[in-house]
Amino acid sequence: MNTLEYIKSLQTRASAALQTRLENSPYSARLGDAMHYAVHNGGKRIRPVLAYASAEAVGGTLADADSCACAVEMIHAYSLVHDDLPAMDDDKLRRGQATCHIKFDEATAILAGDALQTLAFEILAHPEENRDPALSLEMIETLAQASGWHGMVGGQSLDIEGAGKHIKEDDLILMHRLKTGALINASVKLGAISTGLASKDMLDSLEKFAECIGLAFQIKDDILDVEGVTEVLGKQQGKDQTLNKPTYPSILGMEGARTRMQALFDEGTQALSIFGKDAEKLQGIASFIIERKH
Ligand code: IPE
Ligand code: IPE
Ligand code: MG
Ligand code: MG
Ligand code: MG
Repeated sequence: MNTLEYIKSLQTRASAALQTRLENSPYSARLGDAMHYAVHNGGKRIRPVLAYASAEAVGGTLADADSCACAVEMIHAYSLVHDDLPAMDDDKLRRGQATCHIKFDEATAILAGDALQTLAFEILAHPEENRDPALSLEMIETLAQASGWHGMVGGQSLDIEGAGKHIKEDDLILMHRLKTGALINASVKLGAISTGLASKDMLDSLEKFAECIGLAFQIKDDILDVEGVTEVLGKQQGKDQTLNKPTYPSILGMEGARTRMQALFDEGTQALSIFGKDAEKLQGIASFIIERKH
């Protein structure tokens, strides 16, 4: 199987796993529809793909990582629903379709995000999802740290505060590490933890890989915002400039941004050397991340 086929098979697995965990909406059908819409409207599933590949790299199975793959994708979907709200980036297009608050309404979009967030932790905590309570607890802590004020939400707050300001590169790195890197990092870490097989050395090298790739991921997102095409991106091109967001291209220029992204790719993939041939899949996913067109 080549890398693209491997990624495709993991995307399919993630979508099926998410589907079974979002099947029955307990009370409000509208809320359930909005949650379903936010999760099943065509995302690349990069975070579940990383979680699965990481589980395999340390010698575990894909089944080990199903619950954390779903949990991290639910947090991601929630983060996008809130990111698109008028109070934040005010976007109408996501994955080539209406954003959640346009398709439904703002209140429903806020609630769908809230409910996806708590469902992610419910899944990690459920004894039928993870039979080892110690691993379950470690996964809950990892995802909570990456999602909240130490992670994605903290970064989103810096992003909002940074609009219209010229910030230093170090501040930009911090903002990107938090708003995007933290969840990418958690995806890789959760996949490894879920197997119960990861050694300290394995976790350290995966962490280094994920840190570099997480930052490279957001640099690519910034680059695509400048040079991408709305129809291919599935979201409005040029939004960062419109909102005056500090980005890699705005601070280092396009060439500077590309050079930095490539250097992070090199550093990240080198960190996987202890895995030998078992790292090939993760390396392929890293290439996919920096070469993607949307
Ligand atoms: C977009 O993430 C938001 C960022 C964190 C940069 P993705 O590019 O992974 O979005 P989807 O899920 O594939 O739409
Ligand atoms: C969003 O970053 C990161 C999140 C935590 C959701 P962006 O605002 O750059 O993501 P896009 O470009 O709207 O997908
Ligand atoms: Mg944003
Ligand atoms: Mg946005
Ligand atoms: Mg962006």
